[in-house]
Formats: sequence, structure tokens, C-alpha cells
Amino acid sequence: LASIEVDLSAIKEGQAIKTIFRKQPLFVRHLTAAEIAAADKVDPSSLRDPQTLEQRTVDGKKQWLITMGVCTHLGCVPLGAGEGEIKGEFGGYFCPCHGSSYDTAARIRKGPAPKNLEVPKYAFKSDTVVQVG
Ligand code: FES
Repeated sequence: LASIEVDLSAIKEGQAIKTIFRKQPLFVRHLTAAEIAAADKVDPSSLRDPQTLEQRTVDGKKQWLITMGVCTHLGCVPLGAGEGEIKGEFGGYFCPCHGSSYDTAARIRKGPAPKNLEVPKYAFKSDTVVQVG
């Protein structure tokens, strides 16, 4: 299966972009310090799908959150990557189909989705280029 390269240099702090990976939406998000702090202050054991931001990002690159843009409920594309302020009440992504809210680590916080947004396999090729897949 094909992998893709994503250029991170144009993605500003606080911005998330949507691209396509294996025919599905992929979200690449440059977290702000405040968004990282918001994710870190949550006790993972309180979560439906317990994971820390560290477990969902690469060592030393916690500001880059790379996930599939596919709601784990029934597969709609959540809002929040490229729709400005539409991020839902937990500041990450919001799925309008049935109201699932994801936090700044794209973890499910509210609504019917059972799992966090999936983190695909990826690796940094340089500080500004990541290979997904
Ligand atoms: Fe996202 Fe149902 S598909 S909440």
C-alpha cells in the first residue's frame, strides 16, 4: 500500500490540515502549547479509550498530532481540520453526524464514538517532512 509524504512547514501552530491517505481523510494538526497542556491535564483512566498524548505522538514531537479523519462511530469526517473554529466542546474535532466530540489529542470525549481517532503508522523524515504509511 502506498505511503505519502506530508510537508509540515506550512502548517501553523493552532492549524490542522486535511489531506488524503489511502483514499481516506487524514488530519495533520500542529498543536499549540495550550492544546498540549489541555490534553496532558486529563487523567487517561477517565477516558473511554485511555491513551495519553505521548502515546499518540512521536517522542519529542508532541506538537504534531496525525490521525485519520474518520469518526470511529460510523465513519463520517469530523470537523475541525480546515473549518476554522468548529472544533466541538473539547477543542479538537467534532463529528456532526451524531455529535461525537474529540479533544486536542483526538481522543473521544463525548458522543457515541467508541474509540479515539486512529493514529496511522508514520515517521519523520526530517523536521518538516513526515511519511505516513
Ligand atoms: Fe461520527 Fe456518528 S459517525 S458521531
